[in-house]
Amino acid sequence: MPLTETTRVAIVGAGPAGLLLSHLLAEAGIASIVIDQRTREEIETTIRAGILEQGTVEVLDALGDFSRARTVGHRHDGIELRFGGEGHRIDFAASVGRGVWLYPQHEALKDLIAARLDAGQDIRFGVSAQRVEGVDTERPTVVIADAEGTVSEIRAEFVVGADGSRSVVRPAVGGSSSEGYFREYPFAWFGILCEAPPSSDELIYSNSPDGFALISQRSATVQRMYFQCDPDADPDAWSEAELWDALQLRVPGTTLNEGPIFQRDVLRFRSFVARELQRGRAALVGDAAHTVPPTGAKGMNLAVADVILLDRALRALLLENDERLVETYAETASQRIWKAQHFSWWMTSMLHVAPDASEFDRKRQVGELTSVVESEAGRAYLAEAYTGWPLA
Ligand code: PHB
Repeated sequence: MPLTETTRVAIVGAGPAGLLLSHLLAEAGIASIVIDQRTREEIETTIRAGILEQGTVEVLDALGDFSRARTVGHRHDGIELRFGGEGHRIDFAASVGRGVWLYPQHEALKDLIAARLDAGQDIRFGVSAQRVEGVDTERPTVVIADAEGTVSEIRAEFVVGADGSRSVVRPAVGGSSSEGYFREYPFAWFGILCEAPPSSDELIYSNSPDGFALISQRSATVQRMYFQCDPDADPDAWSEAELWDALQLRVPGTTLNEGPIFQRDVLRFRSFVARELQRGRAALVGDAAHTVPPTGAKGMNLAVADVILLDRALRALLLENDERLVETYAETASQRIWKAQHFSWWMTSMLHVAPDASEFDRKRQVGELTSVVESEAGRAYLAEAYTGWPLA
């Protein structure tokens, strides 16, 4: 017989969703165990995108001094949309009175891990979930294996899949790991990190005849930039000079600050929503439930929004024996998920150049961009979505 441990909530995945949920549950006195197959170092050093909605930063404020979003991160009150060689600022502060923070997800993760360990949270790194059993009973179980391959079980009152796009919990919730709604895109992003000061104070999302580019930043000395590439591109096949030419060509009107490129990667992306987000005593949050292309900067923010809802539902279930919020979790979470899916798809389609785009498509796209930047309502919609709709 394998060893069986018990807890109230078993959380699979120590990403932002799983860690934040453990924090919120602990505030309500609900114990949890968090497991993740990765080591702490892997989690803290995997480079991720960096925009936090204002609401996300406000949620992270609950970590007290552990959250460095406001001190190390940078507040941005707008972005630039560039097309036809000209920049057009979307002024978030003027449109909706809200902003975003540029603060990479792996930095937020370091904060969350430090805060949870300081509070005595049981987090098991290097422990993988093999499968989830009994979600239709009141004692669902996660079968786990440690780094040595020793198998044991965590028996809980609820199991949460916060384990990313290759979720092990998803099949227990939806009957299959791939069942859902999805869309692929015929392009990917080539991302670089380089040692050079920012080329722009704010992010530039640029549409050009040669494709999309995003000029972002990390610090006073490091820039993060991306350009549209073929999904099968080999990151090592490009010389630094070729990378700078590709980037510069896609941001006409700005001279980029160049410097040594110390990291490069090709990010393939797609849109996905799992068909089922909850079943019995198990639910999915974050990338386990859905993925979005990075153009709308919604990934981690959407995970936080799911967690806020699930935390409430679990408090009702586990403290008051009230199942109603768990039963409506999927429907409630889906409303924001599909708004974010639309926004991410829209930003992606509006800014990238599809490989088979006709001249009509190109001209229509410029018409679309023009109608957004020239209209107060268009700018306000973009600002509202980018800075984040109100949290529940
Ligand atoms: C980033 O800085 O990595 C970043 C920023 C905005 C995005 C995507 C990525 O939409």
